[in-house]
Amino acid sequence: MILPNDQEHAPLDKLDDWEDFVQDGLYPVAGKKKKDDYRNYDAPARDTVREFYRLNHKFQTYDFVVGKKEHYLAFDKREMTVFEALDFLNTLVDDSDPDIELDQLQHLLQTSEAIRADGHEDWFVLTGLMHDLGKVLCLFGEPQWAVVGDTFPVGCKFSDSIVYPEFFADNPDNEDPRYNTRLGVYEEGCGLRSVHMSWGHDEYMYHLMKGCLPEPALYMIRYHSFYAWHREGDYDYLCDDHDREHLKWVKKFNPYDLYSKCPVLPDWNKLRPYYADLIAKYLPATIKF
Ligand SMILES: [Fe+2]
Ligand SMILES: [Fe+2]
Repeated sequence: MILPNDQEHAPLDKLDDWEDFVQDGLYPVAGKKKKDDYRNYDAPARDTVREFYRLNHKFQTYDFVVGKKEHYLAFDKREMTVFEALDFLNTLVDDSDPDIELDQLQHLLQTSEAIRADGHEDWFVLTGLMHDLGKVLCLFGEPQWAVVGDTFPVGCKFSDSIVYPEFFADNPDNEDPRYNTRLGVYEEGCGLRSVHMSWGHDEYMYHLMKGCLPEPALYMIRYHSFYAWHREGDYDYLCDDHDREHLKWVKKFNPYDLYSKCPVLPDWNKLRPYYADLIAKYLPATIKF
């Protein structure tokens, strides 16, 4: 697997550096941390995150998102069992690509095992295992900024509560009167289901899991990187009561995603039979990506 190596394709040293950035508490929480506080740190990883968001905010336009949906929601790229897909995702590591060194399977297992240890229902555990599987988009040749990172609505004004909002100045939608008003192409309270989110693994995985997992699980998968909503409390004007009702599930999921790094790594070989049963209970034998 050869991934293009140019800077615009893969600005992050590790695919999950942006999540470490969130976890470090450097996300500009309104009123608590000034935007400038997290700049100019003498830490190269932070510069790569900044460059990552410069590209993400510049290129995630309404047309880009609609185009990616057309391309990927045809699900004609590859058919795999969940186990094959997990192995496939892990080739991000096995190909020793220097850009992506985190073991993706370990992150998924640590998330799902932390959920299981807290005694949650089995579909919640399975959500932990599946939530980032959409990162296979990287293996289909997508640049990092179209796979990971915070997600946000396109087709309406970009909010200042999104990380590095100044980079939206380079996004052509920012100057487009169809897209740069508060509501843009949407109606007040239309519900998030009617809103196009920036393209990435969250939206992709939601469409793959639709019809298989319960509604709270689908919200966790679809909006787990929508920090401007679930952490900053923004975009309520696009939400309906169904979204508001399900926000608690997205919030419930977030700590498992960010803080479930276990001291003892889960042993996939031992856990495999448990997850085989769980996958068979909810998901089809093969998934069309
Ligand atoms: Fe994710
Ligand atoms: Fe994750």
